[in-house]
Amino acid sequence: MRLINRVAIVTGGGSGIGRSTAIRFANEGAKVTIADIDSTGGEETLGLIKETGGEAIFIKTDVKDSNQIKELINITTSTFGSLHIMVNNAGIGHSEVKSVDLPEEEWDRVMDINLKSVFLGIKYAVPELIKSGGGAIINTSSLLGLKGKNYQAAYNASKAGVVLLTQNAALEYGKNKIRVNAIAPGVIDTKIIEGWRQDERKWPIISRANALRRIGTPDEVANAILFLASDEASFITGATLSVDGGGLTF
Ligand SMILES: NC(=O)c1ccc[n+]([C@@H]2O[C@H](COP(=O)([O-])OP(=O)(O)OC[C@H]3O[C@@H](n4cnc5c(N)ncnc54)[C@H](O)[C@@H]3O)[C@@H](O)[C@H]2O)c1
Repeated sequence: MRLINRVAIVTGGGSGIGRSTAIRFANEGAKVTIADIDSTGGEETLGLIKETGGEAIFIKTDVKDSNQIKELINITTSTFGSLHIMVNNAGIGHSEVKSVDLPEEEWDRVMDINLKSVFLGIKYAVPELIKSGGGAIINTSSLLGLKGKNYQAAYNASKAGVVLLTQNAALEYGKNKIRVNAIAPGVIDTKIIEGWRQDERKWPIISRANALRRIGTPDEVANAILFLASDEASFITGATLSVDGGGLTF
């Protein structure tokens, strides 16, 4: 088991990549806090972990709210005793429109949920990771944090921000033995891509726009997050690992 005696928080753990990551972590021996704004999804993930004898709790959390992030971390450390791994993964997409047609409120909402949340996750997890003698933070960026796509202004900007926030925190807390990395998934089979999937014209193109000519699974991304969280990645920090079937090079 690769995460024995580790305590981890996974935001967005109620669905998709976050759910796969929470389950994978629990299977590797971690005590896991599932955080999500969606209680139904969060409770489902909790049930799936408990079915296999894993240890976990669910805390309903809105990741853009600093008080809720503080509470998430407080409850986790009071329940499990410490914190070693923070996965800032919750995120949303937005309507496919040109920048000039993107409502300002939608810009703010995407930046808050996709980028400010990562800042808050780092800000409030770091002091606990220092108390634990070090740890790992993994942030979910995107292929669209590394490469522009039309009609994705706020998503592009938010996910690009995650890449440099990751480098910044890696530099600031390396001396505290905290490694900070990001993953950049390509098109992965989760709820967030439903809109694209229903577009009969674009989906055949989008779903094959990488070297492997297929979309990825949440488990394939969770495997990369697990690697970055584990001691196997002990000399890796500040990196953004593409998990995109070669989408960046396409
Ligand atoms: N699926 C893809 O193709 C893809 C590609 C690149 C990056 N990503 C990123 O991966 C991450 C996970 O997304 P996913 O693909 O698993 O999608 P998903 O929709 O299945 O899961 C996202 C989860 O985040 C939760 N969430 C949304 N807003 C929240 C908030 N304010 N507070 C707490 N939780 C909130 C949702 O309830 C949901 O459970 C996101 O950051 C997304 O941007 C996904």
